[in-house]
Amino acid sequence: MGPMDRPRRLRTLPVMRDLVRETSVEARQLVLPAFVADGITEPRPIASMPGVEQQTLDTIRRVATDCAQAGLGGIMLFGVPEPHHKDANGSQAIADDGILNRAIAAVRSEVGDDLLVMSDVCLDEFTDHGHCGILDDKGRVLNDLTVMIYAQMARIHAECGAHVVAPSGMMDGQVAAIREELDDDDFTDVAILAYGAKYASAFYGPFREAVGSSLQGDRKTYQQDPGNARESIREVLADIEQGADMVMVKPALPYLDIIAKVREVVDVPLATYQVSGEYAMVEAAAANGWIDRDRIIDESLTSIRRAGADIVLTYWALEYAQRHARG
Ligand code: PBG
Repeated sequence: MGPMDRPRRLRTLPVMRDLVRETSVEARQLVLPAFVADGITEPRPIASMPGVEQQTLDTIRRVATDCAQAGLGGIMLFGVPEPHHKDANGSQAIADDGILNRAIAAVRSEVGDDLLVMSDVCLDEFTDHGHCGILDDKGRVLNDLTVMIYAQMARIHAECGAHVVAPSGMMDGQVAAIREELDDDDFTDVAILAYGAKYASAFYGPFREAVGSSLQGDRKTYQQDPGNARESIREVLADIEQGADMVMVKPALPYLDIIAKVREVVDVPLATYQVSGEYAMVEAAAANGWIDRDRIIDESLTSIRRAGADIVLTYWALEYAQRHARG
């Protein structure tokens, strides 16, 4: 009879567990998504995302500095225009004084190269109908026209100082069009983080309040069906072929299987987005005293990394990094 196997031996002491832990979550791998709103003079709380606020053009500078000091990898900027500035074409997205463009410039001038400035390339924050693209007269989202606007947006973001542009609209051909536009304008160093596999998810609910968007209809003609996994492989491979430097799976925790599958077939950095609904559920349960908030946050981030994500966008990025900073 051989010696009895005793897996508990490796669990005896904190130092032993630390030594053998396979997965860690480091500040450098985290990106904070942040909202910058036009026409406000102080940060405005988002009711459905307790602890998250819309920032002003001024206060976002401080948030970005904190991110850099905490050692985060980046900040992902979303713009929130004033309601009366939204129109059918989302024209504020490509306006010089558009809120997102000004926010990118403000943050980049604040952090320089100490933090990656990332920008959301999508129209939904800017359109009055809330869709990610331009509609035809039947209300269908027009792919190719929308892609042309995304390319312009990405170029403007690069001009404003974005290090990384992140097309999230799930239009076909968006990555190729953006890469071409950036290269034509000598922005060959600006990286593309492509939302390769983005699902039509109810987990984005609180985000709609965060960006003041009231969507007419749904996004099922461009975002993926939650029942599909193989489709995600096709989507991310197509994005890489079009020039994506990094790809994203979104949401995160309900889609760990997708993260794991995509990780097996791609060799570019894989990001995932722990979205507003994932955040809100934990905060709501914690506010009721039903769960141990900090442990749930740490465990969910660990699980997302364990599934195979290299990079995690999370509203807890700054808090996580600060809580785990070595004193
Ligand atoms: C689209 C976009 C959305 C989110 C990020 N980018 C909303 C959507 O697709 O409906 C959701 C992020 C979150 O829920 O935290 N620009």
